[in-house]
Amino acid sequence: MNARVSAYNHLPAALQDKLDICQLNEFSLLFEARQPTTMAQLIEWVQEYRFYFYPCLHRYGVIVFRGFRGVDVAAFNRLVQSGLGMTPWNAFNTRRMPGVIASALRRYSEHLLGAGDYRRYLSQSAVKLGPVESSIQGPHVEGGVASERSRYLTLFCEEPAPYLAETAMADFHLAYLKLTPELKHRYGQAWNQFYYLPARRLKWYDRILLRFSPFTIQQAAGQHTGQERLVLKPSPLVIRSPEMQQPCLQPWQFARNTHTQAYAAAREVYTDRGELQPDSTATGVNLHWSLADMEGNPLPWSDDEKQALFEQLYRDAYLMEWQKGDIAILDNIRIGHWRMNGEQGNRKLIQIQTNAFNADPLWMGHS
Ligand SMILES: [Fe+2]
Repeated sequence: MNARVSAYNHLPAALQDKLDICQLNEFSLLFEARQPTTMAQLIEWVQEYRFYFYPCLHRYGVIVFRGFRGVDVAAFNRLVQSGLGMTPWNAFNTRRMPGVIASALRRYSEHLLGAGDYRRYLSQSAVKLGPVESSIQGPHVEGGVASERSRYLTLFCEEPAPYLAETAMADFHLAYLKLTPELKHRYGQAWNQFYYLPARRLKWYDRILLRFSPFTIQQAAGQHTGQERLVLKPSPLVIRSPEMQQPCLQPWQFARNTHTQAYAAAREVYTDRGELQPDSTATGVNLHWSLADMEGNPLPWSDDEKQALFEQLYRDAYLMEWQKGDIAILDNIRIGHWRMNGEQGNRKLIQIQTNAFNADPLWMGHS
């Protein structure tokens, strides 16, 4: 037990001889069983002592459970839903389709938008994440391409990678605090604007299916006149977390037009991880990311500013080295993440996104 961890002082008395707590880094708390303990027991504890675990999650950003017996996808699901009382909500599967249909729709969107991250739905809520590559993803909050997204991100390591392939995590509140006053002001009033250029001409059935999607079809102007864009509603770049009222940056770096800077930042910061390739999602889909004010007027955002932001996030990241059976719960406003390069092997990382929220009312500019 790490006596310096203040969370231990607040641990319910009934759990003090059962759980060890240690801090993995500034924002991550690890809970380990002191003696052999089943997942069923952990789920009971978490359910009974939610009033303890939720403040830990909001105050730190990440909580990890490690070393419990009988952990599998079903037990992970029960911990999330029965233990923590969360409601699965997946930005891509809001209608809660069965896994096979959600996967088919995902494949359809990959044909339309370009090949993005290859992930497959195991059920309505559990998703097996895409394979490890020799590239480093861009920093993002899950679902950060839209304002409606999941409040929490839960991850289960069914099988770790043989080499590297950590999940990088970064404190997006700290990232905001480190900005210059001028950037705090500009990013604080900024809205992310995203659009896709489709990978092929839109067919009649695309137009029907897109009516049920968050996209609006718009004609491009200027040099791209005649080209159709799939435009998303703007979402705020900085929002306040509801519980802690901390301003947090909300990037979603999978865009092609900002990838040059993200890729340069990755090579600048991660110099000891072999040769890094460009991120296949950012280069596989034609997504465009820019900043605008509330009225839609473009805000300046130089290439140097983009690269400096990505470098800072990469530099301050914690690289989570997964152990088999680990379960991590992330505050998806405060903590950003991305996949590091490494070897795929038999790595299986399962994700459940939970508790939909709308970022718009939390926009920094409202205050
Ligand atoms: Fe992600």
